[in-house]
Amino acid sequence: MRIGIIGVGKISDIYLTNTRDRFTENQVVAVADLLKERAQEKAAEYGVPKVLSVDELINDPDVDAVLNLTIPAVHAEICEKTLNAGKHSFTEKPLATSLDDGRRIVALAKEKGLRLGSAPDTFLGGGLQTVRKLLDDGWIGTPVGVTAFMTGRGPENWHPNPHFFYQPGAGPLFDMGPYYITTMVTLLGPVKRLSAATRISFPERLVTAGALKGERIPVSTPTYVAGTLEFASGAVGTLVVSFDVWKSRLPRIDLFGSAGSIGVPDPNTFWGPVQIFRPGQDDWVDVPLSHGYSENSRGIGLLDMTHAATVGRPHRASGELALHVLEVMHGLLHSGETGGFYEMTTSCDRPEALPVGLADGEVD
Ligand SMILES: NC(=O)c1ccc[n+]([C@@H]2O[C@H](COP(=O)([O-])OP(=O)(O)OC[C@H]3O[C@@H](n4cnc5c(N)ncnc54)[C@H](O)[C@@H]3O)[C@@H](O)[C@H]2O)c1
Repeated sequence: MRIGIIGVGKISDIYLTNTRDRFTENQVVAVADLLKERAQEKAAEYGVPKVLSVDELINDPDVDAVLNLTIPAVHAEICEKTLNAGKHSFTEKPLATSLDDGRRIVALAKEKGLRLGSAPDTFLGGGLQTVRKLLDDGWIGTPVGVTAFMTGRGPENWHPNPHFFYQPGAGPLFDMGPYYITTMVTLLGPVKRLSAATRISFPERLVTAGALKGERIPVSTPTYVAGTLEFASGAVGTLVVSFDVWKSRLPRIDLFGSAGSIGVPDPNTFWGPVQIFRPGQDDWVDVPLSHGYSENSRGIGLLDMTHAATVGRPHRASGELALHVLEVMHGLLHSGETGGFYEMTTSCDRPEALPVGLADGEVD
């Protein structure tokens, strides 16, 4: 398909590179950005024929699908405009910041018969697809539980503009949560009920690097979230995401089954290591990856979506999956505020696993 990209900031390079060099079933034909100079630079660098305004790009007859790489606050608005113009839409994560916006765009895509997809697509990487295969092939028996931890000291020590990370719609939950929650849901299926304790540990953060060094950031969203997820399958998940932790010894994700455990790789990557432990072993054993896409393959979710639209099958990094993940995040904050359980109202199917033996650039 012919792709138009809106928002060509930091993350756009890997999408442009992969689409040009590897995922050649798609072709980037236009770019747009609020900063026109930036769009011009990227177009020149990657040989993209057109630099347009956002509205021109969305309405351009040469654009079949729009890749939305803008900031989270405008994801829903751009997806909505795209769908209303009759184009397929794929957005960076999260799907939207508000749950109502997420619901609205998923319903709109359905009504229009168009595809809506969302990052993260790291679950299609070689590392996480190997985990999926081990699980589906029964190597650890029936899933019992999963733990997922993302702990650090926050982005004010390295990011050039860290203010937005401490506002609603960001925080560790909305920024990093999609990787961890998407991974758990694609492995274990949908969440039925959840609860959480949350806190703003420090009401202000001090910027310690870059041009804004010395500025103080007021914090208006929780920076420590400890949640419990009850999956419809019966498995129980534990999730801790935080920007308040100097150091910890926690793994990223561990998956526990009736017949063993799997050490799951960092879900913000496409690679391993994948490890397994089964009764009778002395220690974890490294598992060779069963699937490709084990280097940075951002854009594979978009390729899967456009290919699926062409051949008429469901796509994997779907709007329904991203909406379910968005509701989990909102549910965790809601539970933290109210002190009660949150019953999920959305659900989703586990996306089909990728087949083994695909060549680079293939999804079927
Ligand atoms: N940077 C990363 O490492 C990374 C990794 C994974 C995912 N993401 C996600 O990718 C998205 C973009 O992140 P980024 O780091 O590239 O941000 P960025 O700030 O570098 O780039 C965003 C771009 O979008 C443009 N933009 C903003 N609002 C716009 C609008 N209304 N219309 C047109 N253009 C608009 C900005 O001018 C900017 O060029 C975010 O959703 C983020 O969560 C980023």
